[in-house]
Amino acid sequence: MKREKVQSLNGEIHIPGDKSISHRSVMFGALANGKTTVKNFLPGADCLSTIECFKKMGVHIERSGSDVTIHGKGISALQEPESLLDVGNSGTTIRLMLGILAGRPFYSAVAGDESIAKRPMKRVTDPLKKMGAHIDGRAGGEFTPLSVNGGDLTGINYVSPVASAQIKSAVLLAGLQAEGTTTVTEPHKSRDHTERMLSAFGIELSEDNTSVSIKGGQSLTAQDIFVPGDISSAAFFLAAGAIIPNSRIVLKNVGLNPTRTGIIDVLQKMGAKLHITESSGDSAEPYGDLTIETSELNALEIGGDIIPRLIDEIPIIALLATQAEGTTIIKDAAELKVKETNRIDTVVSELRKLGANIEATDDGMKIYGKQTLKGGATVSSHGDHRIGMMLGIASCLTQESIEILQTEAIHVSYPTFFDHLNKLAAKA
Ligand code: S3P
Repeated sequence: MKREKVQSLNGEIHIPGDKSISHRSVMFGALANGKTTVKNFLPGADCLSTIECFKKMGVHIERSGSDVTIHGKGISALQEPESLLDVGNSGTTIRLMLGILAGRPFYSAVAGDESIAKRPMKRVTDPLKKMGAHIDGRAGGEFTPLSVNGGDLTGINYVSPVASAQIKSAVLLAGLQAEGTTTVTEPHKSRDHTERMLSAFGIELSEDNTSVSIKGGQSLTAQDIFVPGDISSAAFFLAAGAIIPNSRIVLKNVGLNPTRTGIIDVLQKMGAKLHITESSGDSAEPYGDLTIETSELNALEIGGDIIPRLIDEIPIIALLATQAEGTTIIKDAAELKVKETNRIDTVVSELRKLGANIEATDDGMKIYGKQTLKGGATVSSHGDHRIGMMLGIASCLTQESIEILQTEAIHVSYPTFFDHLNKLAAKA
């Protein structure tokens, strides 16, 4: 796709539903008793993979655009799938679903695309095996395809070496089906959508600092869910509004869960003109409207416990940093290496092609600002949705046009991304 510089970005957009919350709404609706309705579900490829997997386990699910209805019959009604559970590109689908499958007394085979085949699964399969599940895969259960024979689990006390909501959620979902209590402790708190939504479905959990405990044998009751806009998708337009001249963008109904708002903290610390109006709803997840305007930005050091609160936003933060005065250092973010691509490598290589002065480090990157992005190059998403969108925003700034390859990857989390960008743009 060929993209050109824009003069400004102005207007209002409704950010599509949150990916993490959309996945969980289908999974928990499938485990619950009764009819769960979901409004503003994200119809991105990842969340559609979750729907297909649960349909294969006999769950009746209807979808009309961003409205989804799940007719749950309880966790014990899940059936052995007759064919492979295909998770596509979705790490959240595979890791959370493994936690569910670990407790089901049937056989299943799970795989996804080329990117999923490279992503580490032992971080989830190891604790699930300790609980009693039989899971196999390439390299001793590290890589897909995986086979699972579940059932007869016993609760464990699991101390996770990384802050990861996917690990935490998988172990809690297995814990829900285990004998006794299961506790997960993380080095820093990761996103807590699982805890919030399980509570809304009637499950009792206890939390203590970065530990969460769940008692086995509880059942879920169907709910009506509203999914707020995805702050990880909004982040692209927050960054765009701040760095593109003469811009003002209003983003409606964006999720403001404090375990996800690291990008807001970063923008504010960099000096961005950002205004937040929180909505007063009784949803399990806070949300509100965000207004961003063109801003003068300063560099920042980003590391420690803010990292899990903005891990998916680091590609767009790197672009933001190219437009900030000074050197931005991102550290403690080695997890970037095991995302949809190695995001340290893909961010650095693609931004360099546009003329950015950026270096990879062992656990992050260094970005030297403020720089003019010259463009005139061919770049690629490398099949990673967030790299594709970061490059889409970068193209708004480059002096010469750029060619972006593999933009279809963006369908994973934001199918209408370029429609929204085009709507806001005034051409140069
Ligand atoms: C997610 C958790 C994060 C995040 C991913 C979605 C989730 O992964 O990067 O996009 O929905 O639980 P980790 O748990 O591996 O950090």
